[in-house]
Amino acid sequence: MKFFVDTADTAEIADLAATGLLDGVTTNPSLIAKSGRDFMEVTKEICGLVHGPVSAEVIALDHEGMMREAEKLRKIADNVCIKVPLTIDGLKTCKKLSGDGTMVNVTLCFSANQALLAAKAGATFISPFVGRHDDNGFDGMGLISDIRLIYDNYSFATEILVASVRHGIHVLESAKIGADVMTAPPAVIKGLFKHVLTDKGIEGFLADWAKTGQTL
Ligand code: E4P
Repeated sequence: MKFFVDTADTAEIADLAATGLLDGVTTNPSLIAKSGRDFMEVTKEICGLVHGPVSAEVIALDHEGMMREAEKLRKIADNVCIKVPLTIDGLKTCKKLSGDGTMVNVTLCFSANQALLAAKAGATFISPFVGRHDDNGFDGMGLISDIRLIYDNYSFATEILVASVRHGIHVLESAKIGADVMTAPPAVIKGLFKHVLTDKGIEGFLADWAKTGQTL
């Protein structure tokens, strides 16, 4: 399963990229606003920090406007992935861009039927928002299972990018279901490395090593 980080904070991205385990980045207008930086400038910097796809989201709601914005965004770098909302205009834009060989991430997916439409439109990635789905009394991981089943039934190449990930259980369940990618905030990814017994084990080994009086 690929790991993307969901942030526009370049220091956090660089930190995670240094582990060699980061496969891409997702941003959205809220994350760009939180960074306090210029959209084009920060996106360009992010594209230089990772080799994999960097999702940059259009703001326009109409197809022509989305195409105009996508045109500017895809000039930033080869690894820019255009993010469009799951609307009729968004999928029209997805079809056009993917036909031209541009990577497209269809975002704000909340149903398996929407995911089916995105695959038919040639999306590179579909982003079902599991956390927001759960928040509203729906079954986020059930949605991922349904999409996996449908995509496998028809051998769709669209990758399932689990988004709005809030904790390690979302990551674990995504991997068990066979999602292709997950995107999570830096703190959630860093939390995956941790286990209280790992810390306790290191502590014990170091204490015993000190008793040997040896150095390495
Ligand atoms: C994904 O591409 C979205 O940017 C993101 O995962 C949304 O997460 P949120 O529900 O925590 O805002």
